[in-house]
Amino acid sequence: MTVLDDLSRGHPEHIQGVPLVIGRCEDEGAVSDVFASTQYDAVIHFAGESQAGESVSNPAKYFKRNVIGGLTLFSAMVKYGVNKLVFSSSASVYGDPSVIPISEEAPVNPKTPYGESKLFLERVLAWFDKAYGLMSISLRYFNAAGADPGGKMGELHDPETHLIPLVFEAISTQEPITVFGDDYPTPDGTPIRDYVHVTDLAEAHVLALKALENGAETSIINLGSGIGYSVLEIIKEVEKITGKTVPYAIGQRRQGDPAVLVASYDKAREVLGWSPKLSSLDDIIRTAWQWHLKCLEQESGQFRG
Ligand SMILES: NC(=O)c1ccc[n+]([C@@H]2O[C@H](COP(=O)([O-])OP(=O)(O)OC[C@H]3O[C@@H](n4cnc5c(N)ncnc54)[C@H](O)[C@@H]3O)[C@@H](O)[C@H]2O)c1
Repeated sequence: MTVLDDLSRGHPEHIQGVPLVIGRCEDEGAVSDVFASTQYDAVIHFAGESQAGESVSNPAKYFKRNVIGGLTLFSAMVKYGVNKLVFSSSASVYGDPSVIPISEEAPVNPKTPYGESKLFLERVLAWFDKAYGLMSISLRYFNAAGADPGGKMGELHDPETHLIPLVFEAISTQEPITVFGDDYPTPDGTPIRDYVHVTDLAEAHVLALKALENGAETSIINLGSGIGYSVLEIIKEVEKITGKTVPYAIGQRRQGDPAVLVASYDKAREVLGWSPKLSSLDDIIRTAWQWHLKCLEQESGQFRG
């Protein structure tokens, strides 16, 4: 196994016991070197720029990095005879869906260049299957959240854009977190999202690889918990679990943010035999909080020298 990552956002200390090659997916030479070194059975393509908001103001970056990166990687797979791929797609391909929960048959209508880049790569993969026999499963994650229950790994983004770690940051710094809009057509006016635990997501990738090995067809599969929580519900649940008050302020809506995104995971159950096990809001917040406290402890240790 090899990890290819340009470390633009990744953390080498989180890659343990696996060789790391530092390089970009859009760099044909770097990608070819990896494939030339060993015969691989399959690829999981996680790498990508993933800030939907940023993609609206800088679409060029998203199309260059995500689309060219994906195309370069998939083409190298064909060249080196690797014909199984699991791809990190996203619920953002659905845009602002009219039917909840969202099934894979729902119309796609991305509202951001980020979502557009994911949808384009899904379509590329359908054509690559027809033309070259590259078999793939595109996993449309809803909101990945939570941390390793053993405390080994969790989110570490800079800048952080994900709600739960931002709520924790607000507790630690006492700087209010901005809630982007409270005038959505939801019970409390704030957007509703489906949070799925990273451990559940990880398991789905293993199952997807096994499915491909057993001859599964190229397909697209939603990964979510099937339950939605509003931003204010998350804040209240964090307060309940941590016993701390979360300072927050209501701000303007962000461009491209839909009111409600909640998955149907029926297809994941049927095709992969997957269902979420650790994606209750309680498990998600408790594991993420444990990780947050560990990071704070490490920071203060470094500060003390
Ligand atoms: N986190 C979520 O809620 C979520 C939801 C839906 C989809 N996704 C998708 O899942 C994948 C992983 O998400 P994440 O939250 O772990 O993101 P992340 O930013 O934490 O990780 C992305 C990794 O890819 C690397 N990378 C980025 N572009 C690269 C490139 N062109 N070449 C080589 N390395 C590159 C980064 O250094 C980083 O290690 C992404 O493709 C993202 O779009 C994430």
